[in-house]
Amino acid sequence: MGFQLTGSAPERYEEYAAPLNAPFVEAVLDAVDLCPGHQVLDLACGTGFAARGAAARVGPTGHVAAADFNEGMLKVAAARAPRMYPDIEFTQAPADRLPYADDTFDAVLCQQGVQFFPDLGAALVEAARVLRTGGRFAATAWASWDRSPYFAAQHRAITEYGGPAAEAHFAEAFSCPAELITAALIEAGFHDIVSRDVTFDITLPPLADFVPGHLSAVSWGQAIEDTGGPDRLAQAAAANATALADRTNPDGTATIPFTSTLVTAVS
Ligand SMILES: C[S@@+](CC[C@H](N)C(=O)[O-])C[C@H]1O[C@@H](n2cnc3c(N)ncnc32)[C@H](O)[C@@H]1O
Repeated sequence: MGFQLTGSAPERYEEYAAPLNAPFVEAVLDAVDLCPGHQVLDLACGTGFAARGAAARVGPTGHVAAADFNEGMLKVAAARAPRMYPDIEFTQAPADRLPYADDTFDAVLCQQGVQFFPDLGAALVEAARVLRTGGRFAATAWASWDRSPYFAAQHRAITEYGGPAAEAHFAEAFSCPAELITAALIEAGFHDIVSRDVTFDITLPPLADFVPGHLSAVSWGQAIEDTGGPDRLAQAAAANATALADRTNPDGTATIPFTSTLVTAVS
């Protein structure tokens, strides 16, 4: 597994994950106290939301590196990187074998990545190695799906229209509670570990359009399409959108709370 999107899904991920990610990216960036001139790593950067936010904060004297092992995500990330200083250095690499020297970074960010690492402990040992002493680490991972009404409705749709593969991919995205991340951070030698849940009300475009696009851009949606074809994916999306109809605003958008766990630590 590991949230591996294929084909044109990374393009859609960039579009449809954007509204869900935006406030959490800001929370991760705030949590590491970035300053102009800082050296930052965005771990499991995907299409680069956190890397772009970090680049804007560290400015022309800083540097942002971004690593992910999915080539398709990195291609979209490189195409969307802003034409501004500092350049973001995108590298294809697994989280548990990072191609950076010891003590390189002031901060390591990992937005919605830790739950997909096959060896979280090894990845956090690598994060500690590439951070300078006193450097900051921050990660978000979705809280349990039943804490976010959008995902609770998606879970019901997947149970009805997906198969075991879709259910396993969905479960993976919600598989990393604070205790697990905290234990792995302690094991990797981090200190001053703090975890809290953060909830944002997020306004999404009209759900009849948004949900099919979003579902086609996540690993569990891909699994539904792989096993049941596009019609099955459309049925799951329609059920998901219908279940959230009471969240619709007068202008057709929908406002829904999303909850993620945010964990910070010092190396
Ligand atoms: C849900 S996406 C999050 C992407 C991005 N951080 C964001 O906030 O949009 C999860 C990302 O983790 C990456 N990933 C999963 N396992 C990985 C691993 N072992 N090493 C590096 N990247 C990994 C996937 O390729 C994917 O881009």
